[in-house]
Amino acid sequence: MVVAMSEVNGRQRVSVQVPGKINLQLSVGPRRDDGYHELVTVFQAVSLYDVVHVQPASAWSVSVGGPQGHGVPLDDSNIAMRAAQSLAERAVKFLEPGARSLIGPVSIEIEKQIPVAAGMAGGSADAAATLVACAHLWGLEAAREDLEVVAGELGADVPFLLHGGTAVGTGRGDDITPVLAQGEAHWVLWISVGEGLSTPAVYAAFDQLHEQAEPSMPELSPELVAALRTMDPVAMGLALHNNLAPASLSLQPALQDVLDAGRDLGALGALISGSGPTVAFLVGSQAGALDLSMGLAARGPGGDIVRVTGPVPGAHVIDSGGPGSRMVNH
Ligand code: C5P
Repeated sequence: MVVAMSEVNGRQRVSVQVPGKINLQLSVGPRRDDGYHELVTVFQAVSLYDVVHVQPASAWSVSVGGPQGHGVPLDDSNIAMRAAQSLAERAVKFLEPGARSLIGPVSIEIEKQIPVAAGMAGGSADAAATLVACAHLWGLEAAREDLEVVAGELGADVPFLLHGGTAVGTGRGDDITPVLAQGEAHWVLWISVGEGLSTPAVYAAFDQLHEQAEPSMPELSPELVAALRTMDPVAMGLALHNNLAPASLSLQPALQDVLDAGRDLGALGALISGSGPTVAFLVGSQAGALDLSMGLAARGPGGDIVRVTGPVPGAHVIDSGGPGSRMVNH
């Protein structure tokens, strides 16, 4: 994430940039008593970003724009709004009265490039960005642990987006351990322009597919961990794994054509990201990414095709450019 501060109408405004994620490994295990599934996942933050602006206001509000802004709820169910309000509640509960003076309603403006309901944690990214922005605005930067607690309560992917980089998620996916990953991976993303997939619906389809035989406890792939150490694209491509994919494919069978198209065009690896429908293709270089994206655009199936790299930082603070400054991406 990138943070900058500026003054708008005399009021401090904080802008935070947050990446989307893909899952290089998603191994879903048995359903737990709390309804979540035990999982082992390897997240990578990639260079497709939302920007969230937060500014003190007389009432709580949220607005959304940008190429992927459609379909985001603007009521109290908006996860960015819930993030801001949850952090305010927690801070008011735990802070000394003198330290609470800055905490109050904010207006939240989201510029969305990360698709919604696409397996890239677009909503969770906005929640993480809002937490970081509000923490700056309210002088809570030191309370990193509180941010992590609130993040975990908001959703299983939110803690990773505070961290970024490449990391293993265990438990519900919210227990984060960074992974040693040196170098840069080049990805081509195929992003659906049609219906998204609801994450709970995909997990419900997974349960149905496993009605007869409970899935085993998930384990981290040693092949993937070894490949990540040097970001060896050939070894990484072979180690990519998502056992939620059959459930996503049962709801959107046409995704198989997307996977096949990328493989036929020479991708080193291809998988559905998270619950989908975004498909991530691994290639060996920037030139390879250009070739594959042109091939996919020519061959179809139709979708938005975006070239990204990973890993990128999840939380990255820059200096403010002074009053009236605009956010700068470093
Ligand atoms: O935590 P979050 O709201 O992002 O999760 C969305 C849904 O995904 C959950 O309601 C649940 O159906 C499913 N899920 C799961 N097990 C996980 C993570 C998510 O079943 N570990």
